[in-house]
Amino acid sequence: MKKTAVFWQRLWGAALVCVLLGSVQAREVPGTLPQGAAIASAHHLATEAGFEMLAKGGNAFDAAVAVSAMLSVVEPISSGIGGGGFFLLHEAKTGREVFIDARESAPEAATQAVYLDAQGNFDRDRATNGPWAAGIPGLPAALVHMAQNYGRLPLKESLQPAIRVAHEGFPVYRRLLRGYAERRAVMERYPGTRTVFSPHGRPLAEGEILRQRDLGKTLERLAEQGFDGFYRGLTARRILQGVKQEGGRWTAQELASYQVKEREPIRFTWRGWQIVTAPPPSSGGIALAQMLQILSPWDLRSMDEAQRTHLIAEAMRRAYHDRTFYLGDPDFVRIPQKTMLSPYYAAGLRSTIHPDKATPSVLLPGEPTPFDEHPETTHFSIIDAEGNRVAGTQTVNLLFGSGLIPPGTGVLLNNEMDDFALKPGTPNAFGVMGYAANAPAPGKRMLSSMTPTFMESADKVAVLGTPGGSRIITMVLLGILGVDAGLDAQQVTALPRFHHQWLPDAIGTEKGALPAEVVAKLREKGHTVIVPGEVQGQRSSDAWGNMQVVEYNKRNGNLGAGSDPRNPVGKGEVRRSSVPVRIAGQ
Ligand code: GLY
Repeated sequence: MKKTAVFWQRLWGAALVCVLLGSVQAREVPGTLPQGAAIASAHHLATEAGFEMLAKGGNAFDAAVAVSAMLSVVEPISSGIGGGGFFLLHEAKTGREVFIDARESAPEAATQAVYLDAQGNFDRDRATNGPWAAGIPGLPAALVHMAQNYGRLPLKESLQPAIRVAHEGFPVYRRLLRGYAERRAVMERYPGTRTVFSPHGRPLAEGEILRQRDLGKTLERLAEQGFDGFYRGLTARRILQGVKQEGGRWTAQELASYQVKEREPIRFTWRGWQIVTAPPPSSGGIALAQMLQILSPWDLRSMDEAQRTHLIAEAMRRAYHDRTFYLGDPDFVRIPQKTMLSPYYAAGLRSTIHPDKATPSVLLPGEPTPFDEHPETTHFSIIDAEGNRVAGTQTVNLLFGSGLIPPGTGVLLNNEMDDFALKPGTPNAFGVMGYAANAPAPGKRMLSSMTPTFMESADKVAVLGTPGGSRIITMVLLGILGVDAGLDAQQVTALPRFHHQWLPDAIGTEKGALPAEVVAKLREKGHTVIVPGEVQGQRSSDAWGNMQVVEYNKRNGNLGAGSDPRNPVGKGEVRRSSVPVRIAGQ
């Protein structure tokens, strides 16, 4: 039997096992606190940094600051203090949930015209490389905000592990090098970047130590001075100078006036789960709600795999169509959120799905686009012993962001401007398009797919998220279906993945995600299915995402954690010891 079929069979089989376990555990008292803490992140040093804070008396929010900052140091391929992120918090003592929006904002000079060449064509290089690609960073402000408003430890304490590793260094791993090889030409354009990543006049080799002393000093200023340690003073001056030196235009006022925003998360119920997830400027929460509500009346478990995949793909198609036209920064555009979250609206979309035939995407207006994917962005999930939770997804956008480190800062700037609709109707690097709702404007935040999410039922809590560009939302959708089917955290991270984003009109798949007979049946229904390696020259990577999940059983307090087996840090294949999850206290 094919690997994927085994996965899905395990998924639906595990659901049965869970029902049995549930009936045994039903005798225990609901509302038990977690018996310890669980952290899952993309790097073991980040997970350990989180546990270091818990050992010092910190809570999940102090751990989140430490994990986030450490990921900035050890996973610069994915995120950093030159980028931004979203942090979904659950405070156990109040039961309050809050979404911290630390998305980058557009500098005033970065108008749509800046990204057009003399012929009026979209200048992809400007949108993705160097100073014009970068938005004003939000991550440092988020670290300060979380520490001051939710943590127990001073920032000096929670940034200490990241500062230590920035100075002492860490061994370079294969995934970092693969990313570097892809972005080498850009990384070697800028003197500040060369100093850090080619310290001996050549790229670092696997196992060599990457030290980032300037980044360590920048983090020290942040730890000592808080917000002003990054957005004003020496760090700010060096960033402004570095951007200017490469031809960009940021102002001191733009840096100094950056603010994180606390937003109400998106909440909805689905099959007995309370789902709490990312609101705009993420497109994730609204799209998730649409997809799950479209799918809700169907008994997906009893269907054969081709039929199930068909219906899920059709739900994906419709949600991504709406994403393109209606979503953007809620402080700048009016989003018809109430309608988009309404079960009646979902019912209307559902009624347009033919049970046996793919809906051609051209019936929903738009232009075909290329399809691409990059493994950037990173996610971490935390539950502490008090029941506090954090789902954090942070990014510099594409691999190593814009590639630009302003000299003397160690801060690798993001290339998040490409997530705006810089030329309306022209797809971005993920092949997704946008129009007026996501056009750039001074101070506006670009639409994101990052979808940090909580699921809670009478018995269970799960915290999940993943990187993966426009595929983030559909990966989280499949993760939610997996949790609902009773898979444990590690099984959920390993689930095979497929994706539809309206345009291009195709179901993309990971290598081996769908058995050949399922692919054949989907094609009979009229779907184009992209199978990696099947057609020469067709672009689709073999493995997507890097999902991190933690969970706890509310009846007995047992914790679980899972880290995506696709992206191990370290040499060779996945080994248990290299999986960066830890559960302590049980
Ligand atoms: N830059 C990827 C995202 O925010 O969705």
